[in-house]
Amino acid sequence: MSQKAQIGVTGLAVMGRNLARNFARHGHTVAVHNRSYGRTKELVDQFGHEGTFIPAESAEDFVAALERPRRVVIMVKAGPATDAVIEEFAPLLEEGDMLIDAGNAHYADTRRREAALKAKGLHFVGMGVSGGEEGALHGPSIMPGGPRESYDALGPLLEDIAAKVDGEPCCTHVGPDGAGHFVKMVHNGIEYADMQLIAEAYDLLRQVGGLSPQEIATTFGEWNSGRLGSYLIEITAEVLKQTDASTGRPFVDIVLDQAEQKGTGRWTVQAALDLGVPVSGIAESVFARALSGGADVRKAAADAGLPGPSAGAEHAGGDLRADVEQALFASKIVAYAQGFQQIQAASKEYGWEIDPGAMAKIWRAGCIIRAKFLDFIKQAYDKQPSLTTLLVDDYFLDAVSGAQDAWRRVVVTAAQQGIPAPGFASALAYYDGLRAKRLPAALIQGQRDFFGAHTYHRVDKEGSFHTLWATDDRTEVDA
Ligand code: 6PG
Repeated sequence: MSQKAQIGVTGLAVMGRNLARNFARHGHTVAVHNRSYGRTKELVDQFGHEGTFIPAESAEDFVAALERPRRVVIMVKAGPATDAVIEEFAPLLEEGDMLIDAGNAHYADTRRREAALKAKGLHFVGMGVSGGEEGALHGPSIMPGGPRESYDALGPLLEDIAAKVDGEPCCTHVGPDGAGHFVKMVHNGIEYADMQLIAEAYDLLRQVGGLSPQEIATTFGEWNSGRLGSYLIEITAEVLKQTDASTGRPFVDIVLDQAEQKGTGRWTVQAALDLGVPVSGIAESVFARALSGGADVRKAAADAGLPGPSAGAEHAGGDLRADVEQALFASKIVAYAQGFQQIQAASKEYGWEIDPGAMAKIWRAGCIIRAKFLDFIKQAYDKQPSLTTLLVDDYFLDAVSGAQDAWRRVVVTAAQQGIPAPGFASALAYYDGLRAKRLPAALIQGQRDFFGAHTYHRVDKEGSFHTLWATDDRTEVDA
């Protein structure tokens, strides 16, 4: 075969197909392969004119079509299918070749796969890709992990197809082994939190403010031109504007109110529990989806007629719309602060040396959580790379302190009117928890020492102590 491909894509469902087209549209020759050849043929028949594709029927032909070091992008459903593809291709590859998993894999699987392939002299790149089908075709945000040297050979191609902000690609080497997939996972966790907060804002405007979905769409449209400007706010306005063709009712009223998930938000929370990072905003959003989907429990509550508040108090203080905007912005800042803290904790745990500012930078376009305020996150880490929490950066501190009165009013109104706003409320509780000079954790330490002799530290001297609770004089001893 005369012409060789710079990159290959195996797995040609819509994401893989669009990634392959994106590479081809950028002038790269792309080898394409799928388990069933029909899809490969379909791609070339439909989109062959967009660039140069080398369709391969077998794994052997596919590998033979690639220049060295070979770059093989795998785009299959995360899980056993990924292992099956690796098992199929790894024996056909040579030292220094790259297998690039572009699916939403769990970072622990990526670590395992990377270690196993490294032993065979192959480079495994766990690569987060965000932006859905459209992003894959027109410019996603790309979060590749894996060996640094593989980025030297792969990065330029990825940077070509990535989304751009002022000409700068939304793609960078995240860190070794599972770092790329970890960051993509947290991206999705933040996505869940963002969506939950937006949903709570909508619910309050509708139930407390009495606004129609159309009016709320207009409000989101306005917010989108301000500091909340983001893809998720923009599409929320579109969804709320939509009218159901068959009933003439607002689209949002004919959709079953049970949110589903593929699991990346849940993984984020599981990983955060192991790392001991309180990502309460993400956790609330995962649990809120689970609560919405708990049809049996909701039915039992409805059947029992669980009572709500006796009188619906008015929203006290400010203008509800303006207050909800403030609550949304402040809670969003908390969710991002928690997500970034989780990335930093994992980076430390696994020795990934992830640059958090660079993550904010590559999330500014292409991905689902792209938002204006990521510029400020980037600036915060540029100013202070070791920033402990975004909340203490000047911009965010000002934003949250400016928002807090409105934020508190919104949480009060939600509680008084019996409208669930777990995202807003827990973000506020987290903020107050961080602010607190003394936390009741001291009492918990006392309880632990009482029933389990678990010991405690004192504020006034070094060491561990235990009180002999069972004795009459309850003396304290060194532990
Ligand atoms: C993206 C999205 C994408 C997908 C997730 C979330 O970054 O392009 O996050 O990965 O939409 O699978 O989906 P669930 O809500 O179903 O978990």
